[in-house]
Amino acid sequence: MSALSVPHLLGIKHLTREDIELIFSTADNFSTILNRRIKKVPSLRDITIANIFFENSTRTRISFELAEKRLSADVVNFSASSSSVKKGETLLDTVNNILAMKVDMVVMRHPHVGACDFLAQHIKANVVNAGDGTHEHPTQALLDAFSIRQKYGKLEGMKILILGDIVHSRVALSNIYCLQKLGAKVRLCGPPTLIPKNIESLGVEVSYNVDESLAWCDVVNVLRIQLERQKDSYFPSLREYARYFGLSMERLNKLDKHLTVLHPGPMNRGVEIESKVADHPNHSVILHQVENGVAIRMAVLYLLAANPSD
Ligand code: CP
Repeated sequence: MSALSVPHLLGIKHLTREDIELIFSTADNFSTILNRRIKKVPSLRDITIANIFFENSTRTRISFELAEKRLSADVVNFSASSSSVKKGETLLDTVNNILAMKVDMVVMRHPHVGACDFLAQHIKANVVNAGDGTHEHPTQALLDAFSIRQKYGKLEGMKILILGDIVHSRVALSNIYCLQKLGAKVRLCGPPTLIPKNIESLGVEVSYNVDESLAWCDVVNVLRIQLERQKDSYFPSLREYARYFGLSMERLNKLDKHLTVLHPGPMNRGVEIESKVADHPNHSVILHQVENGVAIRMAVLYLLAANPSD
């Protein structure tokens, strides 16, 4: 297979296993190029991409912009905080004005679930979801799975634990879809208040026992406590969360095996993850995830550019 089955990347839910494997094999090639002295290729010359961010971002925004520039695309960046959105302009008006300037692809992060799907239905450009509310963050899940595949050579049969604030996390849902499509077993762990009801219907296991879950898994993906999305108190205090659900060296040292640790960032050091774990040279692949993000986003943009939206 040499083409994606979709013209947009709205969520991992819409991708086939073959789509994901094509993205990975394309990212393998871009990863090789990114390690050369000359990192730029002409693949998206004459393509214009708008990065539209209605929510804060460090990794995703820089990573998409770098990926676009490495592919020789023309790039425009739009931040809601300094735009006419502040004067009441609608999402569709904003994007249509940008498209009137002949933009071919839109990468968008938005606080509302479904905003990227809405956009894809109304504009003639490829849309890439860079995170929509608590729904999906597909390129994060792709780079997470790619990083696991890089370390173990496979996803099939791997046991992956997702630990932390699942209920507010778009990374969790995209990871669940992505890992399961690639044949991995997925377990969720965290306080009962931070695990959505009936999530088992997606085929995942749920546990509230951190140490037993760490003993079960090969890889743990630690998720951030999303304080900005929490309107209620989901646990008594950050100190208590760190004690009962935080990933510490003490917990890792109790295991009679090596465990690989991922975190999508940004991290709350000392809350969901201890600094010694986050910075551990053997356990942590957190900066490899960031590095792989550029190759994965290059692959996604390159493949979508070959599938114009009608
Ligand atoms: N992982 C992630 O989405 O990070 P940013 O919010 O910094 O983009």
